[in-house]
Amino acid sequence: MVLRLDGVTKVFGAVRALDGASLEVERGEIFTLLGPSGCGKTTTLRLVAGLEHPDAGEIALRGRVVASVPRRVFVAPHKRNLGMVFQSYAIWPHMNVFENVAYPLRLRGVKRSVVAEKVTRVLDLVGLAGLDERGATLLSGGQMQRLALCRALVYEPDLLLLDEPFSNLDAKLREQMRVELKVLQRRLGVTVLFVTHDQIEALSLSDRIAVMQRGRVEQVGAPRELYERPASAFVRDFLGQTVVLRGVVREPGPRGGTITVALDGALAGSMLRGHAGPAAALAAGAPAHLAIRPENIEVAGDGRSTPEANTLTGTIDALLFVGDRYEARVVLGGEQRILMLLPRAREWHEGQRLQLTFPPQTVSVWPA
Ligand SMILES: Nc1ncnc2c1ncn2[C@@H]1O[C@H](COP(=O)(O)OP(=O)(O)OP(=O)(O)O)[C@@H](O)[C@H]1O
Ligand SMILES: [Mg+2]
Repeated sequence: MVLRLDGVTKVFGAVRALDGASLEVERGEIFTLLGPSGCGKTTTLRLVAGLEHPDAGEIALRGRVVASVPRRVFVAPHKRNLGMVFQSYAIWPHMNVFENVAYPLRLRGVKRSVVAEKVTRVLDLVGLAGLDERGATLLSGGQMQRLALCRALVYEPDLLLLDEPFSNLDAKLREQMRVELKVLQRRLGVTVLFVTHDQIEALSLSDRIAVMQRGRVEQVGAPRELYERPASAFVRDFLGQTVVLRGVVREPGPRGGTITVALDGALAGSMLRGHAGPAAALAAGAPAHLAIRPENIEVAGDGRSTPEANTLTGTIDALLFVGDRYEARVVLGGEQRILMLLPRAREWHEGQRLQLTFPPQTVSVWPA
């Protein structure tokens, strides 16, 4: 294990920026902190880096306690052997590319010949070979980003801390950097603690993700596990899109079996079946939410809804072509609107009636 946080709390005045957070990062993984603005991601990185002192709890790097309130330990930042790239990456504008990367090594008193060899190697790894002499300010945004990464990687840190490192880049470049970081990380075997509030970035890049809310760790897991088996409504709705329909439990069904829910409001009179979410059993009559990912809803044109097939009828209210598919707002029962995806292989039009099938194994039922 490379990093362990144990019940770490950080208070700023009246704000509990971190509230008893615990997590463990394994060697060689990309571990991501994901959560809405203000949930404590940057604070966590700053505590790990030693730029903040915790108010409670303990932090250990490679088994060595670097900050502990109960044990009164605090190891200075430069003695933690960490690499860092923050959102506003600092590149020295008066130095060329080579000197920018060499600087951290010179600071550590590394021999000249070794410096040259190491710098050349990392520049080569990130595709900046041949740009050694270029002034750092004469690079493109993506190249500067890579230069910042080089500088953090060159002294082979035990742990690389990345705080929204791609936030200054345009969408295309971000996607490209995402892939490059993953390939680079695999090649070097470096352990990365990554921070983002972008769920796609988190899902695509991470080996494991900790979803945070209000200074707490809500759930830790592999991307697919979090997406397919969220432990709370917060995680479910933060990661990806979810269609939520409200109702009341009609038949609880056997444990692990299907639950029948009578829908409320505009959809009163309709019933849908799903399986139990992570919560405890739901009794008959309990208010419930049915949740389904838009990509799991199946669509047939112009059909009628049949309860046996777990279907509802809807009408396309707005249709957006987004390149690889359509995104549609569909109205159910005259007033409930849901967002869903429609394949490009067919023609669709606003006002079109649809038969929507909700496969019961992809519908989860949650207490309301
Ligand atoms: N130095 C500080 N003084 C006072 N409050 C702070 C300080 N640093 C952080 N906070 C507060 O602590 C909370 C967590 O902040 P943090 O920067 O860790 O959030 P974040 O998850 O990184 O958010 P973002 O996605 O916007 O970067 C916020 O409410 C923030 O206002
Ligand atoms: Mg932040």
